[in-house]
Amino acid sequence: MRISLRDVQRMKDRGERIAMVTAYDYPSARLADRAGVPLLLVGDSLGMVMLGHDSTLPVTLDDMTRHAASVVRGSDRALVVGDLPFLTYATLPDAVAAARQLMQDAGVQAIKLEGGQAVADIVRRLVELGVPVMGHLGFTPQSQHQLGVRVQAKEAADARRLIEDALALQAAGAFAIVLELVPAPLAEAVTAKLAIPTIGIGAGAGCAGQVQVWHDLLGLGDGKPPRHAKPFAMLRETIDAALKAYVEDVAHARFPTDAQSATMEPAVLAEALKGLG
Ligand code: KIV
Repeated sequence: MRISLRDVQRMKDRGERIAMVTAYDYPSARLADRAGVPLLLVGDSLGMVMLGHDSTLPVTLDDMTRHAASVVRGSDRALVVGDLPFLTYATLPDAVAAARQLMQDAGVQAIKLEGGQAVADIVRRLVELGVPVMGHLGFTPQSQHQLGVRVQAKEAADARRLIEDALALQAAGAFAIVLELVPAPLAEAVTAKLAIPTIGIGAGAGCAGQVQVWHDLLGLGDGKPPRHAKPFAMLRETIDAALKAYVEDVAHARFPTDAQSATMEPAVLAEALKGLG
C-alpha cells in the first residue's frame, strides 16, 4: 500500500521528519522505495540532471509523463509527486489538462507547482477536482531568470509575502509546501504557522521534512554539489573506477573469461563448420 496524504499529515503531526528525494526513472525509484523513502518527487530538475538542459524551462509535459510513469512502476510504497512543467498551469484548463496527464497517464498520486497567491485559485480548483497539490515557494526554478539562483526572501517585505503565500496555498488545500533556498529562521517560522508540512531544500532544519536531488544526495553530479546538499555517498567516483576497469579488462582480454561464457561440445562446432572451408 502506498503512503497516503493522510499518512504524510500524520507524520507531521507526530513530529516525524519527512524525507523526500527526487527520482526520475525505474531503477532510482526501486532503490528509494526499497530504502523506505516515503515521498518521491519526479522533479522537473530532470531537465538538468537527466536531459542535459541548463534549466528546468525546456522540460515538457511528455518528458515528465514518461519519467513519472517509470517512477510509478518502480515504486510500491512511496507517494509519488510529479512536477507540472513551466507554463503548463498558467490557466485553469491548462492546469487541469496537465494534472490529468500526470495522474492518469503516468499514475502519480500528487502534483507539485510553483508559486503562491498567484496560483492559489488554480490550486483550489485542482484540489476540489481531486488532485492533491504540493506547493513550492522561495527559489522557484521556473522563475530563475526573474529571481536569480540565490537565497530568497531575505528582506522583511519579501519574507512577509512568502508567509502570506504559504498561508494562501494552505487555505487553497495544498497538502504540503516545498520551501527552497530561504533563510532557516524564516522557514522555521513558516513551518510553525502552518498545519500542513513544509519540505525544505536549502531552508534549514526547522522544516517538517527535507527534499534532495538524487544526484546531489548520492554524489553523482558533474560539478561541486550546491551548498545546501550533503552527498551521502560519492557514487560518481565508484562508477568512474568501475568503467575504467571495464575498459582496461576488455582492452587486455581479461573480460570476459570462461566464467561469463557458454561452452559448446567441440564435435557440435566441428559439425557446424563442416564444409565451410
Ligand atoms: O525539480 C525539483 O527537483 C524540485 C526540488 C528541487 C524541490 O523542485
